Order: sequence, then C-alpha cells, then structure tokens
Amino acid sequence: MCGSGTLLIEAAMLAANMAPGVKRKSWCFEALEDFEPEVWAEVKSEANVQARRGVKKTDSRFWGFDNDPKVLRTARENAKRAGVDDLITFELGDASKVTKPVEFEEGVIVCNPPYGERLGTEPGLLPYTLSLVIS
Ligand SMILES: C[S@@+](CC[C@H](N)C(=O)[O-])C[C@H]1O[C@@H](n2cnc3c(N)ncnc32)[C@H](O)[C@@H]1O
Repeated sequence: MCGSGTLLIEAAMLAANMAPGVKRKSWCFEALEDFEPEVWAEVKSEANVQARRGVKKTDSRFWGFDNDPKVLRTARENAKRAGVDDLITFELGDASKVTKPVEFEEGVIVCNPPYGERLGTEPGLLPYTLSLVIS
C-alpha cells in the first residue's frame, strides 16, 4: 500500500542522512533582502555531497508494494527525483500476500491502507484490516 512512495522515500532519506528538501529547487527565504546566495550555494553543495555519500553508505533497504501499477510508476519517479531510487524496490503486489525479501532477517512493515472516507467504504476496508492483523 505504498502508493506514490512518500513514506518509503522519507525513510530512505533519513537512513541516508539526507537533509530534508535537499533536492528542492527554491525556497521562500531566497527572496529575503539579506539572503546570501553564495553562502546558500555552499550549504546546498555540502548537503548534496552528504546525500550522495549517505546513499552509498547506508545498509538500509526498502521495499514498497502496491496493487496499482499506475501509482508504482509515480513512486519510482518520485524516488528517482529524491535521489533514493537505489535504496527502494517497488513491486506490484497484494498486501495480503507479501513475503519477506530473502536477504534480510529483520525488518519493519509500515502500511498506509486506504482511508475509507476518501478512497472507499468501511465494509470494503475490512478485508485489508483483517489480512494485516492475521498475517
Ligand atoms: C492511502 S494510499 C497510500 C498513500 C501513500 N502513503 C502515498 O504516499 O501515496 C493506499 C494505497 O493502497 C493501495 N492498495 C489498496 N489495496 C491494496 C492491496 N490489497 N494490496 C496492495 N496495495 C493496495 C492503493 O493502490 C493505494 O495506493
């Protein structure tokens, strides 16, 4: 239920010690009168070096599953834009049938199921809730 990958991308950025918003093109404070572009360029450059190093250094790996191929395409694009696509594998899959990636002994499952109110109905959500509790 990874959708467009927000949770995975943020987790991967944390694991790689990437500064939040490191890929962001512009910030409101750049319009301030006393903004110093040279200082900011240096800060950004350092943050980008740290991000690239962090991605190479971290042992953490992430898997995202969703049963909608369209959102997975968006998720892959988002991960690439955020610079963490090497750390995340997105796969088409049903949440109730997901198995553990073989190369890891331990991990944490995080899921963001359909909310009901916005994306479906309460009875329609029950099978997801039950399968997640049981498995
Ligand atoms: C609330 S959205 C997730 C939003 C996500 N956090 C994001 O950043 O976009 C729920 C997702 O669950 C997916 N989904 C619903 N039923 C599923 C199932 N049985 N197996 C896998 N994914 C499922 C939907 O396609 C949808 O993308």
